[in-house]
Amino acid sequence: MTGFSADWLALREPFDLAARAESAATLDLRGMAGRMRHDARPLDVLDLACGTGANLRALAPSLGGAQRWLLVDHDPRLLAALPGAFAAWAHAQDLILRTDDQRLHVEGLDWNAEVRWQRADLASALDAVPFAGAQLVTAAALLDLVSASWLDALFDRVCKANAAAFFALSVDGRVSWDPVVEEDEAVDRLFAAHQRRDKGFGAALGGKAPAAAAARLAAEGCRVTLSDSDWRIEEMRMLQAMIDGVGSAALEQAPSAHALVQAWQVKRRALAPRSCLRVGHTDLLMLPA
Ligand SMILES: C[S@@+](CC[C@H](N)C(=O)[O-])C[C@H]1O[C@@H](n2cnc3c(N)ncnc32)[C@H](O)[C@@H]1O
Repeated sequence: MTGFSADWLALREPFDLAARAESAATLDLRGMAGRMRHDARPLDVLDLACGTGANLRALAPSLGGAQRWLLVDHDPRLLAALPGAFAAWAHAQDLILRTDDQRLHVEGLDWNAEVRWQRADLASALDAVPFAGAQLVTAAALLDLVSASWLDALFDRVCKANAAAFFALSVDGRVSWDPVVEEDEAVDRLFAAHQRRDKGFGAALGGKAPAAAAARLAAEGCRVTLSDSDWRIEEMRMLQAMIDGVGSAALEQAPSAHALVQAWQVKRRALAPRSCLRVGHTDLLMLPA
């Protein structure tokens, strides 16, 4: 669960979509796209750490109109899975999809998107990414993985490009299980500490990411809106994945807490058929100063 396999990204995608629906009422994404467009040209969107393209699948229909996306990730296996993931989506949603070698074109009712992708390591080679010309810089489930100094470097580039930004689904540290068990709090503390480990970008912000990002952008004079986009999980497969993943991360963080983590997993698995897990996420929309 802490890795980013295509299977894990596919498992979380419906929960991400449901969570985004919560924040959609607060964040005027179509209005932002309208403001950022220059004349009749397509809106240029840069999607950082794209995985298999879930952010585009969620966002493109909300933005409306003509769009031109560049998707960036460092993992060649996830990039290789992009065309298949878009083909399945287009089929399920009745969209028109045309493909050529390194490019897709997707067409919905009132929007269309040209989609290209690029392999780049965002941690070590942010300058390989063409920020200039982007009107919207976006990422989903990325900000909690990065450090404060990396965020500074990213925001410098976003502000120089005079782009808007939309960062969806950053974990914000709120976690609650219903019903509760005695070990929840201790395991959550270990998991939160694991989230702050270096994921390649320096010490990760973890649950502090949305507030840190909002403060940094507001200091630049940008207009920032935050909105909750929480996961609510009652489905068995996802609950099991969370119990396994949280347990493994907690154990990696504190191998000596083996008995505690095992007791927590046994109780959580037994309660899973009547449990609900809420994981706090925040969406951040920024309009340039
Ligand atoms: C939680 S996943 C989110 C993926 C996608 N945005 C989504 O919403 O499904 C984090 C993504 O960050 C990417 N990533 C992690 N470290 C990276 C790096 N140094 N450079 C580029 N991408 C990276 C992973 O490959 C993965 O696709």
